[in-house]
Amino acid sequence: MKVSLCPSFLICICACMCVLVSWSWLRIPGVLQRLGFTYFVLSLMQTFSPYREIPPKEVGCPVQDVVLYWPEWIFIMLLEVVWLCVSFLLPVPNCPTGYLGAGGIGDNGLYPNCTGGAAAYIDRWLLGDNIYWHPTCKAMYRTTEPFDPEGVLGTINSIVLGFIGMQGILAAILSKCTRDEGFIPVNKNLWSLSYVACMGCMSFALLGVIYFVVDIKGWWGGQPFIYPGTNSIFVYVGHSLLGFYFPFSWEMRFQDSHWEQLFQSLWGTALWIFIAYLFYRKHFFLKI
Ligand SMILES: *[C@@H]1O[C@H](CO)[C@@H](O)[C@H](O)[C@H]1NC(C)=O
Repeated sequence: MKVSLCPSFLICICACMCVLVSWSWLRIPGVLQRLGFTYFVLSLMQTFSPYREIPPKEVGCPVQDVVLYWPEWIFIMLLEVVWLCVSFLLPVPNCPTGYLGAGGIGDNGLYPNCTGGAAAYIDRWLLGDNIYWHPTCKAMYRTTEPFDPEGVLGTINSIVLGFIGMQGILAAILSKCTRDEGFIPVNKNLWSLSYVACMGCMSFALLGVIYFVVDIKGWWGGQPFIYPGTNSIFVYVGHSLLGFYFPFSWEMRFQDSHWEQLFQSLWGTALWIFIAYLFYRKHFFLKI
């Protein structure tokens, strides 16, 4: 059974939202919007690139796929230059230029309203209040300003991430192999260059291993991860709606401990995998 959200149903939902939701606080950017836009740009680039197919393999050239796509590399590098210039050179009123910190009580409370530096400045300028109001830094750094982790500037780097997927050494150099220091620290909320290089490298390596084990050798069918994979929108929406309620999560007793947080995350994930498995058994797949 395949369930599609028919157009009239969507229009009905939109009409209800018009009545119920205050548009002035609606968040325009988001995870799915980010993914959609990223792949839109990359597919456009791929479509108009002069090399659409890899020609028969020339033996002994391990970097052939890199060399072959040189126009795309140049385009991606230009994009990255834009990100670097804007992030590090754009003057932001009342904030240090090139600020990449969390604001609030971070940096000894010197720049409480500078969360996200240039990225946040651009989002507020373009989107006003229509951004994310509960950034992860809010609790720990006691910030008051909104900041959107899927904002406009970071989109550039998610495009770069979608393209490179293999430059792990870059992340090591940029972060000087530290957790939160270096030339450009690893920062998920900013989608910093070291973060996307690190994620790209890990995903690429993982994809290589999984491809070998699952597709080439057939040693493993991908269980249990194929179950949420076949119903990803369902699991994503389900988690967004119910993730903060029992039994998916509970009020933590040891607020400062990482192990309870880790346990809760693993428990919630396991539960959703189990639910996805039940839906898989019933052949119920939700698609838009
Ligand atoms: C930061 O913003 C808040 C209101 O959002 C304001 O009350 C406060 O004075 C600002 N702090 C600085 C240092 O600009």
